[in-house]
Amino acid sequence: MTSDFDTTGLTPELLTKYDRPGPRYTSYPTAPHFTEDFNESVYRGRLAKAAKRSDEALSLYVHIPFCIEHCTYCGCNVVISPKKGPEENYLDALEKELDLLAESLGNRRHLNQLHWGGGTPTYLSPDQCERLFHSITQRFPLLDTAEVALEIDPCVTSMEHLKTLRGLGFNRLSMGVQDTNPEVQAAVQRIQPLELTRSHIEEARRIGFSSINIDLIYGLPKQTEESFRHTVSTVLKDLAPDRVACFSYAHVPWIKPHQKKLDQDQMAQGWEKFRIFVGAAEEFVGSGYRFIGFDHFARPEDELAIALDEGRLHRSFMGYTTMPASDQIGLGVTSIGELSGSYAANERNLARYQRAVNDGHLPVERGVVRTPEDELRGSVIRKIICTLKLDFAWVESAFGIDPRVHFHDAITELEELSNDGLVEVGDNGLRVTGRGRFFLRNICMPFDAYLGKSEGGPKYSRTV
Ligand SMILES: C[S@@+](CC[C@H](N)C(=O)[O-])C[C@H]1O[C@@H](n2cnc3c(N)ncnc32)[C@H](O)[C@@H]1O
Repeated sequence: MTSDFDTTGLTPELLTKYDRPGPRYTSYPTAPHFTEDFNESVYRGRLAKAAKRSDEALSLYVHIPFCIEHCTYCGCNVVISPKKGPEENYLDALEKELDLLAESLGNRRHLNQLHWGGGTPTYLSPDQCERLFHSITQRFPLLDTAEVALEIDPCVTSMEHLKTLRGLGFNRLSMGVQDTNPEVQAAVQRIQPLELTRSHIEEARRIGFSSINIDLIYGLPKQTEESFRHTVSTVLKDLAPDRVACFSYAHVPWIKPHQKKLDQDQMAQGWEKFRIFVGAAEEFVGSGYRFIGFDHFARPEDELAIALDEGRLHRSFMGYTTMPASDQIGLGVTSIGELSGSYAANERNLARYQRAVNDGHLPVERGVVRTPEDELRGSVIRKIICTLKLDFAWVESAFGIDPRVHFHDAITELEELSNDGLVEVGDNGLRVTGRGRFFLRNICMPFDAYLGKSEGGPKYSRTV
């Protein structure tokens, strides 16, 4: 079965060999390779192209950057404001950006996917959530079958929020939990009693949210293999989520200086950190969950698991998803969109973002138009990271090239991974092995033509 993993032959030496900085491939080229050449006029051209496919639905990601407190481990793009107020101007700005996008997209408006991420979307009050939702759907109506999801932090989400959101049509929730262990929570200064998370999940299910995801992070201070196994079994027993994202803690203090508050000596590294993940994977799979990609787990009846089995799993800026490839629009500060063969990243600074839209400009800051070679390599990487295999006949028919020749260097590079039992490469393609499941990003990296090319090199988090 594709979701099988195999822990035999996993050794500290093997881990050391492959634990290195590497992309998570939510895009290709990856974000460090976006440039300012991709400006507003390029973006407008791409939107105009997208507008022509007026019968295809769109996906919309909205970034709400505000949080009341800065979680010490956080690697996301956030604006910390304990005092409410800045969100009002932001909502005004989002409406202006929506107008600019709607104008550029002509009749192409229907959404099959709407996702609010953050930050903390429920930093907005229920009334503000309602305002934003209507601002969006008046311009971009939702299809009846649309996936409508948001990320919530139970600590700042009221039952009133849940009721309002469900009433608006949200059908999926993703909750940040990270770890249920009180010692770990104290070490990262995010105290979130299990009871609080449980009451939110129970209420969400009661009022009809159909899918609940929980985010966990491994590699945080004070975690051990045993403590995290306990966390996973508690999550499964007490919260029974449909899906779990089990992220490797990305410690990137050169980008997120507030992470320096965490004591690195208390964090498992290398083999110890890897064992925490392997232990978690054993707990999930032992409880009947399927292993999706390199960091997700899902109930076998969940659409993510079904999409994996049917070879339909997809990966975008929203992570692993079942939605077919479609144009994805990013709305709000730091949002990234993917449309008409390009990636468009919005302004990262809140004041500059607001100024740009208030002046009538699409607030794009960077991006890239994919070349045919990017399309090819990006599709190959996506295939591997989603379906755990690559069929050379598929590459030949989709791109008209002979992958054995075109990817000669990558295939040669994979020989070493093959000798280590991580991948099987044959005449017809390649297949990730059960052991290789733990090194999926490494198996994609030989196909990445950008790695190591730029001076100094962009710094990614580690692959394990
Ligand atoms: C925007 S946050 C979730 C929403 C909400 N603000 C909350 O904290 O519950 C998205 C998720 O990213 C993950 N995350 C944040 N920082 C991370 C890091 N440095 N390494 C790995 N995962 C991280 C966490 O699991 C978090 O739940």
